[in-house]
Amino acid sequence: MFGKVQIAPSLLSADFCNLERDVRMIEEGCPEWLHVDVMDGHFVPNLTIGSPVIKALKKITNIKLDVHLMISNTADQLDSFLVAGADMVTIHVENGNGPARGASAAGASPSIEQVDDPHEIRILIDRIHAHGAMAGISLNPGTPASAIDPFITSVDLVLVMSVHPGFGGQSFIEDSLDKIEQLIEMAKAKNVNPIIEVDGGINAKTAALVVAKGADMLVAGNAIFAAADPIAAMTDIRAAARN
Ligand code: DX5
Ligand code: ZN
Repeated sequence: MFGKVQIAPSLLSADFCNLERDVRMIEEGCPEWLHVDVMDGHFVPNLTIGSPVIKALKKITNIKLDVHLMISNTADQLDSFLVAGADMVTIHVENGNGPARGASAAGASPSIEQVDDPHEIRILIDRIHAHGAMAGISLNPGTPASAIDPFITSVDLVLVMSVHPGFGGQSFIEDSLDKIEQLIEMAKAKNVNPIIEVDGGINAKTAALVVAKGADMLVAGNAIFAAADPIAAMTDIRAAARN
């Protein structure tokens, strides 16, 4: 959808004691988005940040906030993120009240995930749009691309999880490449062109792979924040995406 690939550094890998310092640092690399991972310790086995932090970030930066909700009770919590100033809110197609299904300490994650009632998901997408934000839908590595079919004409973005959600610093799952292709085919067949965002294990090497398949927005946490020179790491990812 975008003319050129956009970068969304993931604050999950930032220094939470120095969040503003890290935002200022990352601003020097002119990212188009800041990716904010919201986890509830239930949908995924990790607990991160909530809407007060989104509100605080909105006050200190003009970078658009790309809020990735990995929570079970999305319907109850959604409005708080919209009011806090999220520019994009991405919900999971596996949204619902099930047990944690993301990455686990044991590494176990189901090969096929349970998908929520399409009607419920549509209500959430409409609510995001009614608030004037962009709406994204995400799918876990164990969820087939076909789960997105009912929503592809209503969303601005599809977020392909290329790791099991829950933690930064995991390795890219290669099967995600086929999924990107399938989603792009599905979108073409319906005459729509949503942004294809990829999240998990993105570095200069995997950026080139996903962009070759058609991805146009890249989340990167560890590859940027753990680098000796985070701005150079962003530049490398951009360069790899261009070539
Ligand atoms: C994982 C999160 C990602 C995470 C990516 O559940 O959704 O956004 O920060 O981190 P890296 O780039 O380190 O894989
Ligand atoms: Zn994320």
